[in-house]
Amino acid sequence: MGILSGKRGIIFGALDDNSIASYVAKKCVAEGATITLTNAPVAMRFGEIQKLGAALNAEVIPADATNLEDLEALVDKSMEILGGKIDFVLHAIGMSLNVRKKKSYTDLKHDWMLKTFDISAISFHKVMQTLYKKDAMNEEGSIVGLSYIAAQRTFPDYSEMAESKALLESFARSFGYHFGIKNKVRVNTISQSPTMTTAGQGIKGFQEFFDYADKMSPLGNASAESCADLCASLFSDFSKGVTMQNLYNDGGFSSMGMNPAVLGL
Ligand SMILES: NC(=O)c1ccc[n+]([C@@H]2O[C@H](COP(=O)([O-])OP(=O)(O)OC[C@H]3O[C@@H](n4cnc5c(N)ncnc54)[C@H](O)[C@@H]3O)[C@@H](O)[C@H]2O)c1
Repeated sequence: MGILSGKRGIIFGALDDNSIASYVAKKCVAEGATITLTNAPVAMRFGEIQKLGAALNAEVIPADATNLEDLEALVDKSMEILGGKIDFVLHAIGMSLNVRKKKSYTDLKHDWMLKTFDISAISFHKVMQTLYKKDAMNEEGSIVGLSYIAAQRTFPDYSEMAESKALLESFARSFGYHFGIKNKVRVNTISQSPTMTTAGQGIKGFQEFFDYADKMSPLGNASAESCADLCASLFSDFSKGVTMQNLYNDGGFSSMGMNPAVLGL
């Protein structure tokens, strides 16, 4: 018996083996859940998500998370395949056009910025609103989004993703209220350490920053595996009182001022 035995979930954002969502999907299935996997139609081209789906006996359903019609079809199909309402949802989606095109923060294209917010943050609201309107979440279910500490502190190369994460965390608090009142569904974000993934490595100087954060954190950078463990516990019945929180899975980084290791002392 796993801690997610009998639970049904939807996992967004597994692109390849390095994706945090792939670790979460594997962990949830190992803990007894049945899941559907979803990603943007363009992500299907790489074929990795189909391999993951086959390994986990999980149907892969393409959906652009900025498109409400896609999300409605995804939720309907997931309930049909999984045989009932949804117990947990992972939102692990992030993309910045300005970062991708290497625009500096003082020279951003604002129409790209709006697209970044839509993909990386407003999609979280769209997912929750779709689930809410369809009454698709089970009583005492759990929804998690992935964030980063740039929502609270300045990390210059994180660019407009900082504002995306601030918005994402705010949506978790605001929708957490409405879902809590409705049927005791929890909504939280996990603020994760730098992690070697496609999205992470798109940030300028990522390897150097990864090494800096690793030294700064008493536990070292928290791995994707540990993020998956925390997700599984938030999806389980062992965290029924936790909602509207931003939880740091960062090895202690967020509480540090200075670590002598960084100075080489
Ligand atoms: N890697 C890190 O250092 C780090 C740290 C903290 C938080 N995060 C967050 O973790 C989450 C997962 O990212 P990751 O690091 O695993 O990288 P990743 O590149 O593996 O995952 C990002 C995913 O977003 C998906 N996506 C992009 N546009 C989409 C759309 N329109 N509709 C649906 N899906 C779309 C991509 O296809 C991809 O699967 C993101 O929210 C990211 O910001 C990452």
